[in-house]
Amino acid sequence: MSEKAQVTPYSATEVSKKGQVTHMFDKIAPYYDNLNRVLSLGIDVLWRKKAIKMLSKEAPKTILDIATGTADLAIEAARVIRPERIVGLDISANMLKIGDEKIIKKGLDKIIQLELGDSENLKYQTGSFDAVMAAFGVRNFENLEKGLGEMFRVLKPGGTLMVLEFSKPRLFPLKQLFNIYFKYVLPVIGKIRSKDEKAYQYLYESVQAFPDYEDFTSILEKLGYTRTSYKVLSAGICCIYFAKK
Ligand SMILES: C[S@@+](CC[C@H](N)C(=O)[O-])C[C@H]1O[C@@H](n2cnc3c(N)ncnc32)[C@H](O)[C@@H]1O
Repeated sequence: MSEKAQVTPYSATEVSKKGQVTHMFDKIAPYYDNLNRVLSLGIDVLWRKKAIKMLSKEAPKTILDIATGTADLAIEAARVIRPERIVGLDISANMLKIGDEKIIKKGLDKIIQLELGDSENLKYQTGSFDAVMAAFGVRNFENLEKGLGEMFRVLKPGGTLMVLEFSKPRLFPLKQLFNIYFKYVLPVIGKIRSKDEKAYQYLYESVQAFPDYEDFTSILEKLGYTRTSYKVLSAGICCIYFAKK
């Protein structure tokens, strides 16, 4: 993404987008899961379920969950796909701490390992994973192409990329109604419940600046991904993108 288009959570500081994003998720981690359920009326759970159901057709044995956060996508993948191994990576230690507690509680710690790290500089060897996935993560990258390029590198040849991300609804009247909710209502509830002034305003702004639909698949193709496709969810509030290495 160009410098001009870059949206950061706390814009009036000299800290990099990555530093700001890490700080923001460390701060809102205790409230994150609950706010997801409240703000999406529980639909975020169904979006992850749908994405994993689609990915399960590929039957990947090794999965990297980028920007795993509190590990909801990794947990759903472990439950449905039953792979040999899932690595969940995130830059926020506080998000991972909550994810780890959930994984242990569900007895999935033999399958899922959470690791602290940066998706834009992956420590894994080239061609390590059958599938690489991310839910609501890539929008937060400081350098989108670098992150997606790293995800491509660590995929095995023939491996699958799955990205679940917000998009901008295009149809009247949902576009207008959703915009009112997303721009004016959600940031107020988010501010009260997360105790962070900016986090849920950043959510709206980052979605507006993010390349969606064909704009996103063209970036994937430019980076070398093939067989790109996307499925629109909830009339365009969200998309599931698929691509192959
Ligand atoms: C909106 S949360 C999504 C969490 C989870 N995937 C889900 O479905 O709920 C975004 C996550 O991306 C992480 N993140 C942002 N930039 C990252 C980066 N460069 N490397 C690793 N994680 C990153 C944040 O720390 C945060 O946990």
